[in-house]
Amino acid sequence: MAAETDESNDAQAIPAAPALDETTVSGLVEAALAAVAEAADSASLKQVRIDHTGERSPLALANRAIGGLPGAERKDAGKRIGQARGRVNQALKAREGELGEAELAHRLTEETVDVTLPVSFGPVGAPHPITAMIELMSDTFLSMGWAVAEGPEVETEWMNFDALNLHPDHPARAESDTLFVAPASSHVVLRTQTSPVQIRSLLTRALPVYVVSPGKVFRADEYDATHLPVFHQIEGLVVDEGITLGHLKGAVEQFARALFGEITLRWRPNYFPFTEPSVEVDLECFVCHGESVGNPDRPCRTCSSEGWIEWGGSGVVNPRVLAAAGVDTDRYTGFAFGIGVERALMFRNGVKDMRDMSDGDVRFSRALMGDAR
Ligand code: DAH
Repeated sequence: MAAETDESNDAQAIPAAPALDETTVSGLVEAALAAVAEAADSASLKQVRIDHTGERSPLALANRAIGGLPGAERKDAGKRIGQARGRVNQALKAREGELGEAELAHRLTEETVDVTLPVSFGPVGAPHPITAMIELMSDTFLSMGWAVAEGPEVETEWMNFDALNLHPDHPARAESDTLFVAPASSHVVLRTQTSPVQIRSLLTRALPVYVVSPGKVFRADEYDATHLPVFHQIEGLVVDEGITLGHLKGAVEQFARALFGEITLRWRPNYFPFTEPSVEVDLECFVCHGESVGNPDRPCRTCSSEGWIEWGGSGVVNPRVLAAAGVDTDRYTGFAFGIGVERALMFRNGVKDMRDMSDGDVRFSRALMGDAR
């Protein structure tokens, strides 16, 4: 049956078909089954499939040769070859299933991710301590039922000064203290305090008003350990019926306790154009606790041996301010305060140099806040 072919010049030539007798065919089956059993992965199994069932495989050639046999032999050979091919295909299928499962199981263990392992994201940031302090301060007042108000950093001179009862010749209005948006005749400034938000709140909110307003302020100021030309304040304003200085003290003391725990405050008379009477709030020095006062052997740089650190200004809202914002001063009174955020951070976290707060070095933020994840 074997056709004579010359394969030497023609790689594609069909090889000779094997004999179709039982011994030969079962030999082919044995060889195929052995190859199937030996295939260690899907790729080698693929090759086994090509070699033993592909178009040029002995079994396929045998199958094709059946047609050339005389009738009786053809039936026998057909059955034999059919069964042989069936066995090989079955073995291939079974092995394919086994290998597929093994490979999947292997991938599942190899590619497992242990989500409990510590991860590193490369450079890690942290919330800026000033931002975090502002949030803490705002939350303290939100928990007392106050609202948080916002105002613009570029402000009109009227909001920043006139409405707050600062006369046109008040020294703070001089260009040496205030950063004007050019030209100065535009009457637009970088706000020097958060107090203009008092006016904005009164003009836009229904009475009674209980608001705090944190934010940036700007002054033509020094840049040193205790001064920054851009810093932060939190303004507070309450306008309601029957408000007194006592309410102011209660609110600010509660605020200080929320930030610093048990702490001694000092209330000192002062002057601000927008409050009458006006009081300065001081915090007992967190370094010397007053022990440096009158004690040349133990000087304290943090409080300049004064025992107290200025924290902010406050007072009973001057009726002129209320009137400028259209509030009925026969019915309403109020209190206000403006407190330094940087000062609070120095005090709370023992930061000695304010410049660390504006440098933008992430190591400072991480030292105070821990890594942000
Ligand atoms: N605006 C003042 C400042 O920047 C601080 C201040 C004092 C705010 C008294 C107030 C206040 O609301 O009542 O120095």
